[in-house]
Amino acid sequence: MKLAIVGKGGVGKTTLAAALTRRLASLGRPVVAVDGNLASALGVSERQLPEPIAHMRELILERTGARDEGAGLMFRLNPQVDDLPERFSVDAAGVRLLVLGTVESGGKGCMCPEGALLKALLQHLLLRTDDDVVLDMEAGLEHMGRASARGVDAMLSVVEPGMRSVQTATRIQKLASDIGIQRHYVVANKIREPREREMLERALSGQVLIGALPYAAELARADLEGRAAEAADPAFTGAVLAIEEELEKRLKVS
Ligand SMILES: Nc1ncnc2c1ncn2[C@@H]1O[C@H](COP(=O)(O)OP(=O)(O)O)[C@@H](O)[C@H]1O
Ligand SMILES: [Mg+2]
Repeated sequence: MKLAIVGKGGVGKTTLAAALTRRLASLGRPVVAVDGNLASALGVSERQLPEPIAHMRELILERTGARDEGAGLMFRLNPQVDDLPERFSVDAAGVRLLVLGTVESGGKGCMCPEGALLKALLQHLLLRTDDDVVLDMEAGLEHMGRASARGVDAMLSVVEPGMRSVQTATRIQKLASDIGIQRHYVVANKIREPREREMLERALSGQVLIGALPYAAELARADLEGRAAEAADPAFTGAVLAIEEELEKRLKVS
């Protein structure tokens, strides 16, 4: 499955991306986790962390053939990228972590060699591999092009108890359908009591809530200490499993 995880800052996008990729890897499936700040959530230390691909000048020049023609910068829009996931990902207990990094650009997308390389890489992962791919969309959907959007099976919006995250989810849903993402599901996170889930579900009017993750003190503690949560409590792990199965079901039927 190819998933994009979105939501307001701090709601738990990275936590959910890490938990889902681990779950998929535990099923023996090839999984690529892309970007965000997944590294520490997946237990990858600062030292093992690869350089973001967006910062690899040599590679970008080599693959895009970028050169200054005086009249303007020339570069290939379809650079070869199929070897990059293997070469530049680090293994985190069966999950391959790929760090794309971000391209500085004013506004929508970036007509620049690094933008072209990232775009091609994203499209490769989403459209031309069978690997499970989970995109931790830390910076929002703004930079996702239509071609990539077409390759995303489902977008998961994370919300937490509180109306601000619901408003963000509602706004993102509109953007997602504008760029052509087919399915949009919501996951509630940091739920401490059933009432919170019910309130969120009501506020989400119409959006499909496919699961709820309980508040897990160990997760917050692990993040505070900068380590990957070893064994989040069974309730959390169980909820992740249920969400994965729900996704499996929904992606199969339609
Ligand atoms: N279910 C949860 N229970 C407890 N703490 C959580 C839970 N989900 C996320 N957190 C904590 O909330 C903070 C933000 O989570 P994070 O995944 O980094 O959010 P985002 O990627 O959306 O910014 C982190 O400290 C994380 O450990
Ligand atoms: Mg994050």
